[in-house]
Amino acid sequence: MPTKTLNDLFIHSLSDIYSAEKQMTKSLPKMARASTNPALRAAFEKHLVETQGQVQRIDQIVETSGIKLKRIKCAAMEGLVEEGQEEIDEIEKGPVLDTALIAAAQKAEHYEIASYGSLIALGNQLGETEAVKLLAETLQEEKATDEALSLLAVEKVAAEAMGK
Ligand SMILES: [Fe+2]
Repeated sequence: MPTKTLNDLFIHSLSDIYSAEKQMTKSLPKMARASTNPALRAAFEKHLVETQGQVQRIDQIVETSGIKLKRIKCAAMEGLVEEGQEEIDEIEKGPVLDTALIAAAQKAEHYEIASYGSLIALGNQLGETEAVKLLAETLQEEKATDEALSLLAVEKVAAEAMGK
């Protein structure tokens, strides 16, 4: 089905972020395992649980609105996950890899934040009130994760990477 209307675009965008979240549920455990800093590992583990809930929220939107998601793979998230994996493969475990992992995770979070922001705007235009409510909950989690990662980068991991 080609994308012609705003409603088509909403479904396409929702399908895209659904794929992105599913990819994150696979990459976050790897990022947690690659982390040395316990607080960073805990942040990844916490966000894994949240991400599983975010997938369920989309399932809930699909169920209540009768939307049929497209089977697409989010190429942007695939690229971001791939870059993160390259760093895991190339950098020795420790504070420098931790710093790289934070950056990789924040790139993914920023992609998600932009995606949910657009979806919420579209949903509002289309009068998808219930969907917007659920998407806004997820957006808040993504923003909180992004902020937690920023704090970790400043407070702990960067200091360790500098040898302090
Ligand atoms: Fe997410």
